[in-house]
Amino acid sequence: MKIAVAGTGYVGLVTGVCLAEMGHDVTCLDIEEEKIALLEEGRSPIYEPGLEPLLKRNLHNGRLHFSTNLKLGYRNAQIVFITVGTPEKPDGSADLEYIYGAASDIANSIENDVIVCTKSTVPVGTNDQIKHIMNSTKPPNLKVEVVANPEFLREGSAIIDFLYGDRIVIGSDSEWASGVVEQLFIPFKIPIMKTDIRSAEMIKYASNAFLATKISFINEIASICEKVEANIEEVANGIGGDHRIGRSFLKAGIGYGGSCFPKDANALVQLAGNVEHPFELLEAVIKVNNHQHSLPVKKAKELIGSLRGKKVAVLGLSFKPDTDDVREAASLTIVNDLLEEGAVITAYDPVAVRNAQNILGDRIEYTTEIQTALLEAELAIIATEWDQIKHTPLDFFLLYMKEPIIIDGRNCYPLEKIEQYPLTYISIGRPAIIHEYRKSSL
Ligand code: UDX
Repeated sequence: MKIAVAGTGYVGLVTGVCLAEMGHDVTCLDIEEEKIALLEEGRSPIYEPGLEPLLKRNLHNGRLHFSTNLKLGYRNAQIVFITVGTPEKPDGSADLEYIYGAASDIANSIENDVIVCTKSTVPVGTNDQIKHIMNSTKPPNLKVEVVANPEFLREGSAIIDFLYGDRIVIGSDSEWASGVVEQLFIPFKIPIMKTDIRSAEMIKYASNAFLATKISFINEIASICEKVEANIEEVANGIGGDHRIGRSFLKAGIGYGGSCFPKDANALVQLAGNVEHPFELLEAVIKVNNHQHSLPVKKAKELIGSLRGKKVAVLGLSFKPDTDDVREAASLTIVNDLLEEGAVITAYDPVAVRNAQNILGDRIEYTTEIQTALLEAELAIIATEWDQIKHTPLDFFLLYMKEPIIIDGRNCYPLEKIEQYPLTYISIGRPAIIHEYRKSSL
């Protein structure tokens, strides 16, 4: 099939590359010339494991193209995927400017019937609006249909999720359009669910809201565990053993971040409010998550008092491992809270330093080496469970730090292992390990 992809962000790029890999002729479009030039050289502007080799392969075999010429890209496409961004507006709702812009660009360019497939996360009713815009702009002799086809890609495993996902949702009121899109996805051998447009739009928001709810729920249980001297890992394992609950997304920590959960949760609260249904449960989920982000510095102050002038190592900047994305990362709250307390920070991350620097600037030091961050630090806060951090020998904390005190926001180490070292170790939902040993008193 001849496919165009509008927007070469994270979702667009993964969609384009994977559809080319499945044998289709794909043109990915974007207005950013630098990005397109980079992609034409086979280089990915985002850090996503496994993306670049597939990008290179499909560029070389001629199935994948990149262009800034929107008209040329849309002109003869049979399906156009809309994968442009829907940034958050100050009131929490989704900004649909790029979505509607893409819809009118497509309608102005097409020379044959086309199916527009929206992958961007959009509020319920948006696809109807896309259809309306396109029908009022397109040449009268051509047919345009709209399909809501939400994505469920996790950063860091997006290629695997696209090729081997749990389900594909196709929401349309046109049998022709949903039939064509179904044919496109049948070779993936993933269960396909056909729905009406609005239900497909809602499925995306409800999925992310539910997963966010699971995380805030387990984090609340973790806080209670700390007070009653229970261990959240035993508890999560115990409740996850019930297949109705399941084990996934029950990892307690300092809360969720990223480009989806925070934005989509806010947008769903906004959407519910618009139809006069205050979504109190989801509002509480968001509140709990904000609280989790601020836990490490609260715990640090409780433990060591003033942080003024203290050197602190922040380990991990990305919102989760295997990505360079720092959007809504807990690390950002931690750094800002520490700066407010007057601490001096060196932050470590294997890949996210550049993105963090764009947000946090030169108020802190950055490093891609854990030992450099730990050197002379009086406190280490773990914000991301990178393998590099999990596999750091615990001796390093003793050797390099001025005081071996760790606040682990991601429960990276088994308590039994920590107990073998003279470390003070505070984690989430597990008993604190306090060592009176202080290097400075030796
Ligand atoms: C998410 C959804 O999983 C995906 O389906 C959707 O399309 C986009 O949003 P992503 O943001 O890449 O994907 O990350 P995910 O792996 O879902 O993790 C989100 C956040 O939740 C991370 O900050 C992670 O650290 C946190 N998390 C996840 C927990 O705190 N505990 C868990 O048990 C799971």
